[in-house]
Amino acid sequence: MAYVALRSVRKRYSDKEILKGVSIDIQRGELISIVGPSGSGKTTLLRLIDGLDFPDSGEIFIDGIKLTMENAPKLRKKVGMVFQNPVLFDASVYDNVAFSLKFRGLPDDLIRQRVEAALNLVMLNDLAKRSALTLSGGEAQRVALARALVYDPELILLDEPTANLDPANVLIIEGALREANLQEKTVVLVTHNIFQAKRLANRVALLLEGEMVEVQETESFFNRPLDPRTRRFIDGDLVY
Ligand SMILES: Nc1ncnc2c1ncn2[C@@H]1O[C@H](COP(=O)(O)OP(=O)(O)OP(=O)(O)O)[C@@H](O)[C@H]1O
Ligand SMILES: [Mg+2]
Repeated sequence: MAYVALRSVRKRYSDKEILKGVSIDIQRGELISIVGPSGSGKTTLLRLIDGLDFPDSGEIFIDGIKLTMENAPKLRKKVGMVFQNPVLFDASVYDNVAFSLKFRGLPDDLIRQRVEAALNLVMLNDLAKRSALTLSGGEAQRVALARALVYDPELILLDEPTANLDPANVLIIEGALREANLQEKTVVLVTHNIFQAKRLANRVALLLEGEMVEVQETESFFNRPLDPRTRRFIDGDLVY
């Protein structure tokens, strides 16, 4: 079975239906990119997969287990989420990354090893002692990624992790995601940047007004889209 499976997921906020019956299978070890215009429901979809919110109807399975309000806290331990605007604690970079491991009661030497490895992945070892609140936007986003990677989650969800970042920071974050992909993590990357999807993803999914319009291998998605709306989206002609 797919690592993440959505079956006819619907979500409404007040009078507006945001997700209109979304179904998708995400395979273990793949890096899938979800693209779509602003307001199409991408963040909503990620929050449902992360168990931060729940569908009105339909089902979500993580590693074969149906996600419910009761088991969400347990299932979330398999998931690392990087939010669009990460909130860091008023503490050192090291402590920000170590927090979840300390919370889980891991021994100090193991914590040190894992935090150093995670900081290495995002090239932040030199800044380990810096106060996290003094970081640039790109550095902060890299800390957020290290924080998500440090406890070795099976599934990594990212919401626009490189929006508004300069090329150097984008390169580092994309490198860490490639590495995660090589290590057979399942990665769901929401991005506005179709070039980034092209560079990183095994498959690309287009979400339009709460509907999953097309999911294809990256090369086919860009070169042989099946839905005319995908072609218009790729060409930048889809204006809402
Ligand atoms: N908690 C909420 N209450 C009411 N409306 C919401 C809520 N969360 C999201 N929405 C609405 O749902 C729609 C989809 O929002 P969502 O954040 O999922 O879009 P998105 O695809 O992530 O957009 P963007 O690319 O701008 O981040 C928007 O119209 C948004 O205003
Ligand atoms: Mg969003």
